[in-house]
Amino acid sequence: MVISDLQLKQCLKEFATPLYIYDANLIKKRYQQLYKWIPYKKLQIYYAMKANYNLHILRLLEKEGSCIDAVSPGDIYLALKAGFSKIRILFTANKISDEEMHEVAKLDVLFNIGSLSRLEKFGKAYPGREVCIRFNPDVIAGEHEFIRTGGEASKFGIFLEKVDLVLEIAEKYKLKIVGIHEHTGSGIPEIVQMQKGMRNILGIITIERFPYLRFVDFGGGFKVPYHLDEKKVDYSKFGEEVTELFTGFCKLFGRDLEMYFEPGKLLVAESGKLLVTATTLKENPGKKIVGVNSGFSQLIRPMFYQAYHHLRNLSNPNGKLKIYDIVGNICESGDCFAVDRELPEIREGDILAIKTAGAYCYSMGSVYNMRPMPSEVMIVDGKIRLIRRGLSNEELAKKIVNEC
Ligand SMILES: Cc1ncc(COP(=O)(O)O)c(C=O)c1O
Repeated sequence: MVISDLQLKQCLKEFATPLYIYDANLIKKRYQQLYKWIPYKKLQIYYAMKANYNLHILRLLEKEGSCIDAVSPGDIYLALKAGFSKIRILFTANKISDEEMHEVAKLDVLFNIGSLSRLEKFGKAYPGREVCIRFNPDVIAGEHEFIRTGGEASKFGIFLEKVDLVLEIAEKYKLKIVGIHEHTGSGIPEIVQMQKGMRNILGIITIERFPYLRFVDFGGGFKVPYHLDEKKVDYSKFGEEVTELFTGFCKLFGRDLEMYFEPGKLLVAESGKLLVTATTLKENPGKKIVGVNSGFSQLIRPMFYQAYHHLRNLSNPNGKLKIYDIVGNICESGDCFAVDRELPEIREGDILAIKTAGAYCYSMGSVYNMRPMPSEVMIVDGKIRLIRRGLSNEELAKKIVNEC
């Protein structure tokens, strides 16, 4: 199921590096696995499109039956263009402006509101509407502090203790609370932490408080392995346990509710690779530095979250092992993909593959230093398809001129 070295080499015959490559079959497999792992009959997956918003990936997941977790009006417009109908989109409205609120309200997409002040403004402007409420699950978990979204320090969600204030505002404006949402964090290492967040949220839900409730959305956070020797989280055990938990909860609640999850990483992270070329070898005292033709503008996770991405030397896999720093081409000292990494000898011109680059890599990219984003290709049933053409340097400059 993984992209073979032969396929990578075929891609390199057709396209220059830096190049993002995705495996369509693996994305489909992960989507279908979630339904096998979580045997709850009213399960619905909402793909967190912030992880990777390539139109072809969105279309692929649309065909599979996914819905969309959108976090901006731009996400919504793109999801609509990819074929998702408005009822398959949930808008997690984080720190939106009034203008954005009115823009999205016109599109008639369900809002997921995570602050009392926004709920008040929404209710005043749109009395009687349906709404989903985001609560803070009061659990701190996730693989880096920047991607933990629960707990007292978090800017996300309404504290569980404030549930009565939520109900007061809903009552005042006759809002119908049809969904309750939480998202604990990204890359949660232990299923007990995910389940704790779920239990905390379920603890505030009763039919008296939420008579219109249709679904509970437990967010994303499914962890994928970035290190080769990393133990995989047992999501089939998780799925059985949460099915039991939620089924039991629904009995108490008095009605079968839908259960939503919003995975990003789990669906797309492992499907992607970024291929780069070693352009510059440098010996500093006690250090071998390899510069490549990409940088944090194209894959920021190592610099931003100190994230580990496995690297391979595709051109010299059997070379003598040496220790390298792999650095990018952006004029910032922090622009580094790996420090003290053991790799088969790297020569200028060698191709390096950066693994697990399908989530929060291209989508967090920019053209900083005026370097265009790479092209993206997808392997679909063994065939290579260009799914987004990167601009040339000159085209990027022209685009900027045209925009000014
Ligand atoms: C509200 C919300 N849902 C879902 C996700 C997806 O998380 P992950 O990619 O870890 O599954 C995120 C990620 O930041 C999020 O903020």
